[in-house]
Amino acid sequence: MNAVARGLTSFFLAIFLSASLFAQQSSTSTQNPDWWKNAVIYEIYPRSFQDSNGDGIGDLNGITSRLDYLQALGIDAIWLTPIYPSPQVDFGYDISDYYNIDPQYGTLADFDRLVAEAKKRNIGIIMDLVLNHTSDKHPWLIESASSRNNPKADWYMWHDPKMVDGKPQPPNNWLSVFGHSAWEWDPARQQYYYHRFYIQQPDLNWNNPLVRKAMYDAERFWIQHGVAGFRLDAITSLFEDPTFSDENYVLGPDGKPLINAYGDKRVDTLKTDNLPEVHDVLRELRQVADQTQGRKVVLIGETYLRSVGDLRKMYGAHNDELDLPMDMEVGFINRFDVNMFRERINQAETQINGDEPLFVFDNHDNIRWDRYDHDAHHEDAGRVIAAVLFASRDTAMMYYGDEIGMVTTPPTRKEDVKDPIGVTGWPKEKGRDGERTPMQWNDGPDAGFAPSGVKTWLPIPPSYEQINVTADEHEPDSMLHWYQQLIALKRQDPALHDGAETMLNTNDEHVLSWLRKAENGEAVVVACNFTDQPQTVSFDLAPQGVRGSSPKTLLKTPGAAEPTSLGSIQLGPFGVYIGRVE
Ligand code: GLC
Repeated sequence: MNAVARGLTSFFLAIFLSASLFAQQSSTSTQNPDWWKNAVIYEIYPRSFQDSNGDGIGDLNGITSRLDYLQALGIDAIWLTPIYPSPQVDFGYDISDYYNIDPQYGTLADFDRLVAEAKKRNIGIIMDLVLNHTSDKHPWLIESASSRNNPKADWYMWHDPKMVDGKPQPPNNWLSVFGHSAWEWDPARQQYYYHRFYIQQPDLNWNNPLVRKAMYDAERFWIQHGVAGFRLDAITSLFEDPTFSDENYVLGPDGKPLINAYGDKRVDTLKTDNLPEVHDVLRELRQVADQTQGRKVVLIGETYLRSVGDLRKMYGAHNDELDLPMDMEVGFINRFDVNMFRERINQAETQINGDEPLFVFDNHDNIRWDRYDHDAHHEDAGRVIAAVLFASRDTAMMYYGDEIGMVTTPPTRKEDVKDPIGVTGWPKEKGRDGERTPMQWNDGPDAGFAPSGVKTWLPIPPSYEQINVTADEHEPDSMLHWYQQLIALKRQDPALHDGAETMLNTNDEHVLSWLRKAENGEAVVVACNFTDQPQTVSFDLAPQGVRGSSPKTLLKTPGAAEPTSLGSIQLGPFGVYIGRVE
């Protein structure tokens, strides 16, 4: 077959798979309580997806107008980063009202319409729930700061200063994730308040039952507006060690404290992260989610953790906490290291009690998947990552623009930076603007993100002329079609949907290979070449109890030869092969 014919084959495969997929889509969000298992969740950064009203900022009506595109991609749910009213210091993660929509993004009616339109397409909407902190402009903080004895005096983490030479100093050495002391002096109360993130994001006091009740009320409100679930922001940060004693410094090999991008001596986070009380709150959130309307509301956690043991605990001893704590161990290895991938995927398969892993490679806080690029192999690297994400036994979380290979485009001048950490940390830390640039829909004005000629909130990356949705739709072998085909296989193929996963050829240093085996006996092999050199793999599946030795190709990277036996599968540089064993 020549290249065009090969391309067309995979193109038609995608169309066939998505057509049968629509036929099957009766089992989704609301009807099937297990819809979130082995599902695909698509993260949207609302400011950057689609601007419908020409103010240069994406909005809810823009997202609604793109639902057909998302349905064709094959996703099950959209996670929206925060869209509540907010001063936008942390672009929505500083909430000043938990019961409304920021006018920049639309209205509550627009939100309801988005939920309804998404539901028609069997797509659920997942809200971001920020529980650790509010904005400093939230009425709760304003009241709490007004005196030491107002009704909300104890809603935030207030602490007396340490007096040094008669001057107030922070109570301890705890650092904000975003640089410098985590304590901010309040002259009216003559006390400090604790903020794990920006100064404008004071931490709530989760020991206070009234704070808990207020947040559970917000959770109920959005469930009543039809959300399919929540992504719980910074959920491991809710509690702090009540002794408020200093953290240890993190030391380098020379025994001296390491310095972070902001110039601070780094401290540990044992006293501010993942304290055991978090689990009580997770169970309470779960009860609210389960009781509210007799339908499944999925709880996803932002869980950067120290070990797979900690990850296992996040599901709850009786499966009564998170449904999907994010596994940050696999996606953020950040280099094509076969052994590390093998070990960590295997941990997720064998050490979380058979619960559902949630793999993620990309989000609005980290450099996009181009951090895995290898010389001239941008697209090839992306295909490998997508194969690991969608062909593993997991719920797959992806980020807008991944599917066309959007590249991280950080600001080049300090004066252009929008994310405040990029200003504090410049030039070592350039902030997160680079992974939040507007979606590249086409090669026209403003890349189709905003009505023509509008100044967009972040610049459109120069790459939009080559990397955009329209170009990929016309190119049979494009990244977009690769994503569509993988997602369709994840939904359609019994082994790739929820089959058990076993690592194969575990001594291979170059190729990551695994077997997926469905309950009906169907077996599928997946092989990903992690190098820029051609490789050949051979599988003996007898030990796995798989009969058959002929591979029937389900998907392979463009240009790869068709294998005739499991004894010799050839992979080009960063090549991927997925085949059913017959
Ligand atoms: C989470 C969000 C991040 C935000 C932080 C504070 O890590 O993903 O974007 O800045 O919480 O809310």
